[in-house]
Amino acid sequence: MKIFIDTANINDIKSAFELGIIEGVTTNPTIISKEGKKFEDAIKEIAEIVGEDTYIFGEVVSLDAENMIKEAYEIKKLHKNMIIKIPMCKEGIKAVSKLSKDGVKTCVTLCFSAAQAILAANAGATYVAPFLGRVDDIGGNGIHLIQEIMEIFEMQGMDTQIVAASTRHPLHVIELAKAGAHVATVPYKTIMQMFEHPLTTNGLAQFMKDWEKVPKA
Ligand code: E4P
Repeated sequence: MKIFIDTANINDIKSAFELGIIEGVTTNPTIISKEGKKFEDAIKEIAEIVGEDTYIFGEVVSLDAENMIKEAYEIKKLHKNMIIKIPMCKEGIKAVSKLSKDGVKTCVTLCFSAAQAILAANAGATYVAPFLGRVDDIGGNGIHLIQEIMEIFEMQGMDTQIVAASTRHPLHVIELAKAGAHVATVPYKTIMQMFEHPLTTNGLAQFMKDWEKVPKA
């Protein structure tokens, strides 16, 4: 399972990319608004850090297909591997159908059901982004949603990849990997939490302490 980072914060992206394990960056209008920069500037700054082979996801904000498509082509110019996020709605699916026929890579976002994921796949979306944390927030089971979509996509031989979004903690990432999600997009804080285990911390401290006792030349 690939790991993408779910932020537009330059310091967090730099720090995460140094690890060598991140293959993409996802944004949405809320994530962009936190950085206090113009959308185009935020994406260009990210592109400078991650290089041209990394996927960067940028979202359209129009609500009709015609303008979504116009925006998609503008966003696409910002980076070689730009993925255009388009919200799940009738106009969005119309735009994705057209863009996918023209070879533009898309991600249908704000997906909360298997029915919506089927529509996205049939429109030719490159990715669909089910929001598991937000499903959990209202008493649903986000992981069950991912499992259901995976099962359908596998059974139907659908090419659309699942980029599981709205991940909130390391257990989400583990469960996503077990469910076979293609990608988990994960906030910086959660990536850092994934490193943590008290036995690792204590074990390393003990190794360092014992190393002091080893005679040195
Ligand atoms: C992806 O970019 C999604 O928009 C994002 O993961 C949503 O996360 P949230 O539910 O924590 O806002």
